[in-house]
Amino acid sequence: MSALLEPLTLRGITTRNRVWMAPMCQYSAPDSGPDTGVVTDWHLAHYGARAAGGTGLVLLEATAVSPEGRISPGDLGLWNERQTEGLRRLASFLHEQGTVPGIQLAHAGRKASCERPWRGGGPIGPDEGGWQTVAPSPLAFSDRDPVPTELTGEGIAAVVADFAAATRRALAAGFRVVEVHGAHGYLLGEFLSPHSNHRTDGYGGDFAGRTRLALEVVDAIRAQWPPELPLLFRVSATDWLADGGWTVDDTVRLAALLRERGVDLLDVSSGGNAPGVEIPVSPGYQVPFAARVRREAGLATGAVGLITDPAQAEAVVAGGEADAVLIGREMLRDPYFAHRAARQLGSGYDGYPRQYERAR
Ligand code: FNR
Repeated sequence: MSALLEPLTLRGITTRNRVWMAPMCQYSAPDSGPDTGVVTDWHLAHYGARAAGGTGLVLLEATAVSPEGRISPGDLGLWNERQTEGLRRLASFLHEQGTVPGIQLAHAGRKASCERPWRGGGPIGPDEGGWQTVAPSPLAFSDRDPVPTELTGEGIAAVVADFAAATRRALAAGFRVVEVHGAHGYLLGEFLSPHSNHRTDGYGGDFAGRTRLALEVVDAIRAQWPPELPLLFRVSATDWLADGGWTVDDTVRLAALLRERGVDLLDVSSGGNAPGVEIPVSPGYQVPFAARVRREAGLATGAVGLITDPAQAEAVVAGGEADAVLIGREMLRDPYFAHRAARQLGSGYDGYPRQYERAR
């Protein structure tokens, strides 16, 4: 029996297997007018195909909790009712296919207001359809990026409230898993790291100060999110900086705090908070971080990053390094990754769509 294709239960929700889709921006929502940030047919076809592909949990891309929290003008949003309504149809379709519908809630902080990748991906100013970015400290991500505005205490409280409101909308839209985007140098990750957080108030300084916003967001979400539904948190385990960055030790410490506050699984990624760092990228290179968190913090983990082969994914779960595997780019290449895994691993799992029976 395959460990990868065993169901996984978190609180009252069971994913039919441990092949999960990693959150990946599609930059395909309208960027102006009343439909700004609203789901399109692209999203329905794209996520729908991965659901028909047998995926256990489909995690929608970074979905902004406020307009200025978008990475690009084409990001999905969850700050109004129109966006909620649009997402309802998508969540319902995923559910009908036997996939658990999940959504990543995000604020891009100083890395917001960038062009879509196919238009260069660079920062865009307010006169080009972009906006002024915000961050823990007025420090640009890199030389080519604008200096963000330092968030005031009031601004921080508004961010927390925006995450809570987006959570209520995610529930109303029919999602059953929420993931907080605390990774890749976006707003919450910027607060975590001493590299990007130079504040001297209660939201900066030592470990307790820098983790405070992430924990407040988790508390605010948990207050809205029913106890029977799982809450995930995505973290960058390390900034990959030799000095002055967020470290794997910090991640293990944070994981224990998140567990106490009702986070059910840590989705363990890395990097994204400092440009030009050397990352020793290789197959499964982030898996050891997930394994360490699972072992030392006693929190379930998801492993992500260059996991492209069913046997490799199986080894991660069977070896106890993670409870689930998040497949990113390989799932863009092959929406049927879970079916492929079932075939290759010879498991009894069967999520094959009835409509495709004759192709079996
Ligand atoms: C991503 N990634 C990403 N991560 C995240 O937390 N939220 C997001 O919205 C996105 N968006 C996104 C878009 C695209 C096109 C790619 C390729 C990646 C990162 C992604 O979830 C994953 O962590 C990495 O791609 C590494 O996993 P793979 O691709 O090696 O399996």
